[in-house]
Amino acid sequence: VKAPEGTIVIFVLGGPGSGKGTQCSKIVEDFGFVHLSAGDLLREEQQNPNSKDGDLIKTFMKEGKIVPMEITIKLLSKKIQGSKSNIFLIDGFPRKQDQAMHFDENVVEPSLILFFDCDKEVMKQRLLKRGETSGRIDDNIETIEKRFKVFQEDSLPVIKHYEEIGKVHRIPSNESADECCTIDNGLMDQLDWPYLDHSS
Ligand code: AP5
Repeated sequence: VKAPEGTIVIFVLGGPGSGKGTQCSKIVEDFGFVHLSAGDLLREEQQNPNSKDGDLIKTFMKEGKIVPMEITIKLLSKKIQGSKSNIFLIDGFPRKQDQAMHFDENVVEPSLILFFDCDKEVMKQRLLKRGETSGRIDDNIETIEKRFKVFQEDSLPVIKHYEEIGKVHRIPSNESADECCTIDNGLMDQLDWPYLDHSS
């Protein structure tokens, strides 16, 4: 379903544990966009007893595999359609070329891609640490390795595609969460979005 006229989408991409979710929370505080996490939406759906997709989502997530595109895009579109806001940070999507093409053609083309670029070892340590308390079914060493493989094989080509058309803003992300620079007013100015309040 096409997004309403004037909808602006920023994709937030990066490997597992690169800090996408953490940095999105900071961006939301600074700029007030709506944060949609594909992973969170899928986890919510998986836990919804009325969902017919719950078991399927669980099977894919447990293996670190990409959940079938129709499910993820349906959940994202529903949120976009139901929101009063028109600027969305979409975190963890698209993870594969077919998702990117489908969304660009049928929902809305992204204005910008934020790529959190982090070393594998750093990401791995973060996820193992989180796994001690998160209860996430995919924060164990076997699934973490599978998630890295999927990122390398399926998701990096998506980032490369957007790089080729000049839409990617790369953010080095090995440092502590406070030191990783996210986006600033300078970047917003470049995007020429006059209706955003850059003053605060
Ligand atoms: P998803 O939930 O998106 O997981 P992910 O991409 O593997 O990323 P994470 O949420 O684990 O990490 P993050 O980069 O957000 O980092 P975070 O800020 O949390 O996806 C999970 C699964 O859902 C997929 O495997 C797939 O099955 C399915 N799925 C998701 N999207 C899909 C799609 N589009 N299509 C189909 N299937 C999809 O930080 C991680 C940890 O590190 C935290 O503990 C945090 O506190 C810490 N941390 C963060 N930044 C720093 C820092 N700078 N310094 C120190 N610690 C830090």
